[in-house]
Amino acid sequence: MAQETVKKPPVRTLPREGRVTGADDILLERGRIGKAGGRIERVRPSNWSLKVTAAMTGVLLALFVTIHMVGNLKVYSGPESFNAYAHWLRVVGDPLLPEMGLLWIVRIVMGTALILHIWSTLLVRYRGFKLRGGGSKARLHGGSFISRLMLTTGLILMVFVVFHILDLTTGQANSDFQAPTATDSFAYENLINSFSNPLFASIYMVSMVALAFHLVHGLWVLATDLGVTALRTRTVWKAVAHLVALVVALVNLSIPAAVLMGVVS
Ligand code: HEM
Repeated sequence: MAQETVKKPPVRTLPREGRVTGADDILLERGRIGKAGGRIERVRPSNWSLKVTAAMTGVLLALFVTIHMVGNLKVYSGPESFNAYAHWLRVVGDPLLPEMGLLWIVRIVMGTALILHIWSTLLVRYRGFKLRGGGSKARLHGGSFISRLMLTTGLILMVFVVFHILDLTTGQANSDFQAPTATDSFAYENLINSFSNPLFASIYMVSMVALAFHLVHGLWVLATDLGVTALRTRTVWKAVAHLVALVVALVNLSIPAAVLMGVVS
């Protein structure tokens, strides 16, 4: 019986140098592979892993601002309640953890998440910009108004976080800042002092508008980045994204506005 020979597909040899061709060109253009000295290698880290990093760290950051907003609501319960809450943040975890132990763990986790978020989103953006040839023509003109503002709102929030820490945590930007002691916190007094200045209150309010825009689009693209395709889930998620962004930003925005109007003093 004649033995059937199985024809193996020819082994594709890759050019040693120069431009790769055909299917490799497409992969190159999509940023799936890179070219180094004629050898083909995958781009590391892949765009996929960068997108997942951006999505996961984005979730962590959104959780932080939501929890922080709930804590900020204590301003409306008066100085004792707000200062007691600020003091509790420093001692929570005691005696299992040293004073400020949990606070430092949260600071390190959130700081790392913030750095990874900025790095992954900027790198994906830069790769897209480069693949479209760079220059002004390489800018994306599609997408919604809010989506085109992601870089701007992200930069505003970056500057805001630095300013906010200098204002209410370390005090260099706050004229009458009172540092916390082992037993007391003066977060309420520091906050009133800051927001009584119309310039400071305005900086906070503008930043909260940027936060709303950034959150609404960030939470919305999360569904796409994590591969949610079901129309119903996407519609519900879009509504959730709008609701969370609006509530977080409006509650936060109400605080400097309330101080400026003398409702909280
Ligand atoms: C108007 C809205 C906000 C108010 C009233 C507010 C209030 C405060 C206060 C009073 C503190 C100091 C707590 C203490 O040291 O005891 C603080 C810390 C902080 N806030 Fe806000 N915050 C607001 C919005 C935000 C937003 C939108 C973000 C993030 C984008 C943020 C991020 C932080 C960070 C990172 C700290 C430092 C926490 C630490 O390391 O101790 N805040 N905030």
